[in-house]
Amino acid sequence: MDRPSRRNVLVTGGALGAAGALGLAAPARAGTPWTWSPKGSVAGAGAGDDPRWVWDPEADTLVASLLDRGDVPKVNDLLRTWTKNGQPLPSGLPSDLRDFVEKARRLPSWTDQGKLADAVDFNEKRGLYLGVTYGFASGMMSTAIPHEARAVYYSKGGADMRDRITKTAKLGYDVGSSNAFKPDGEMIVTCVKTRLAHAGVRHLLPQSPYWTKVADEKIPISQRDMMVTWHSLPTTVMRELVKWKVPIDPAESAGFLHSWQVTAHLLGIRDEYIPSSWDEANAQADQVLGPVIAPTPEGVKLADILLNLGSSLDGGLLTKPILGSLTRYVLGDQIAGWLNIPKDPFWYPLFDTCWEPFIAIREGLLSKEKAPGALQKAYWAFDEVLRLSALLYLSGGKLPISIQIPTTNNPN
Ligand code: HEM
Repeated sequence: MDRPSRRNVLVTGGALGAAGALGLAAPARAGTPWTWSPKGSVAGAGAGDDPRWVWDPEADTLVASLLDRGDVPKVNDLLRTWTKNGQPLPSGLPSDLRDFVEKARRLPSWTDQGKLADAVDFNEKRGLYLGVTYGFASGMMSTAIPHEARAVYYSKGGADMRDRITKTAKLGYDVGSSNAFKPDGEMIVTCVKTRLAHAGVRHLLPQSPYWTKVADEKIPISQRDMMVTWHSLPTTVMRELVKWKVPIDPAESAGFLHSWQVTAHLLGIRDEYIPSSWDEANAQADQVLGPVIAPTPEGVKLADILLNLGSSLDGGLLTKPILGSLTRYVLGDQIAGWLNIPKDPFWYPLFDTCWEPFIAIREGLLSKEKAPGALQKAYWAFDEVLRLSALLYLSGGKLPISIQIPTTNNPN
């Protein structure tokens, strides 16, 4: 029996955790008709337009102009020093960018500090589970979201997935920080920079001969795509925790949702598309996320890169089967099959039969003595998977990383 070591579990779990925040994924389908009502949104009202045809005009026009004027390298350099939510912007920024950021950094009027405090409690109590779910549910799922897989693969970041994953881990780390949206936190800055990066991608990707050949859209990262990826994050994470029967305080669950509602707003998603409750989120996810999940050559390659990230330590001998089995357990046989993940004869059955009882023991709902025999032997290994993926997920996000506006596409 292969046994995981602290190091190899850490590297692979963390890398995938980072990928979770990323939302790597595959080809995009036209999608189902948009019938989700804006009455279920945080705005409570709206035009009800299909967000497939809505992008982020304010940011897109600005960043296109910055790129055309050749200002982006200077702007990236200056913004590197802007890290804290409450920090004034550096001097020397073009005035149109400064005006945009000053507006974009404001928290929405519906921000509820009490709920954000509940989110902090949730993140503190459930941080261990969040590393694994962001990673193995969100991250791997994203490789099966066609629009996103293609955008990621053919954009600049696609040329260096390790770097991209590290950058993306920052958002996952920041949203879970105790001061995420406070003046000394960094989440507002991370969101605004990501909004600018996405606007850059919208301008650049349509110039990529590789992307235009395979894409079924003229401009990437629509508001609908944004919501699809959003659902691959908090909605999927919450669904997974519920499936694992993790007891969750209702106020903390609502707080976690709220931290992601505020995140969506700061990323430039219109309030009329942001679900106001988990019921609304689940209804919207059923409409926009479920139907688009599909394999693409780009997504399959990205999934393989993710599964191989631990290979430098063990040649993939152990880390790959563990990651693959956890992915299969979380996402199911069909998606695992699409992603060419083999069914490991040892690790997959172990996850399948023992993961839920393992959670029950950790939560004090089942005594270890009553657990299946296999779990009694594998308990420590599962615990390592949890601890180390959370640890790396968090430590990756602590690196001094500056999210940048891209200036090119993936040249390959
Ligand atoms: C960049 C998060 C939605 C494609 C980023 C970055 C973050 C991020 C943190 C900066 C990392 C970096 O610079 O490499 C998110 C979140 C989303 C979301 C939280 C939704 C809630 C999407 C969607 C797509 C997408 C829907 C495509 C359909 C990209 C691409 C980059 C990027 C191509 C740029 C990578 C580069 O620099 O080349 N995103 N993203 N993202 N994102 Fe997103």
